[in-house]
Amino acid sequence: MRLLVVCLGNICRSPMAEGALRTRLQVSPLAGRVQVDSAGTGDWHVGEPPDRRAIACARGFGVDIAMQRARQLQARDFHDFDWLLCADRANVRDVRRRAPAGHEDKAALLLDWCGIQPGGEVPDPYTGGPEDFRQVWRLVDSAAQAVVARLAAG
Ligand code: 4NP
Repeated sequence: MRLLVVCLGNICRSPMAEGALRTRLQVSPLAGRVQVDSAGTGDWHVGEPPDRRAIACARGFGVDIAMQRARQLQARDFHDFDWLLCADRANVRDVRRRAPAGHEDKAALLLDWCGIQPGGEVPDPYTGGPEDFRQVWRLVDSAAQAVVARLAAG
């Protein structure tokens, strides 16, 4: 199973979700059997580490995401990954727009796909403060636990 988490810039939400997912998977029966990566629909931050506020927030929850580097969604991602789990509806729309024919259904809302919030979105914390980042972490970490449960259930 290969999961790609997608947001706009790939420096806040999807790197935090990637970190939460890696950490939850490592201590699960699925350890080593699920590949996780993240990407952005935009290209503004390609090659950069996550936003320093995202790094600090994740570190506060015991997870190191500083080694991640932003990249933009690319065509081969639709072949390389089973699911493209998006932070918000605009991401889903942008991902579907770029999907090769027949691959549109691989794009889903992360919070919806894992079952914790039907139709739910992870709010963009980019223009927010530390509490907005902590709220994002709690959301994506809850999602990570639910993703593990969904995959473990087969
Ligand atoms: P992200 O947040 O999509 O969670 O990584 C953003 C990061 C950068 C920008 C927007 C959102 N930006 O416009 O540069």
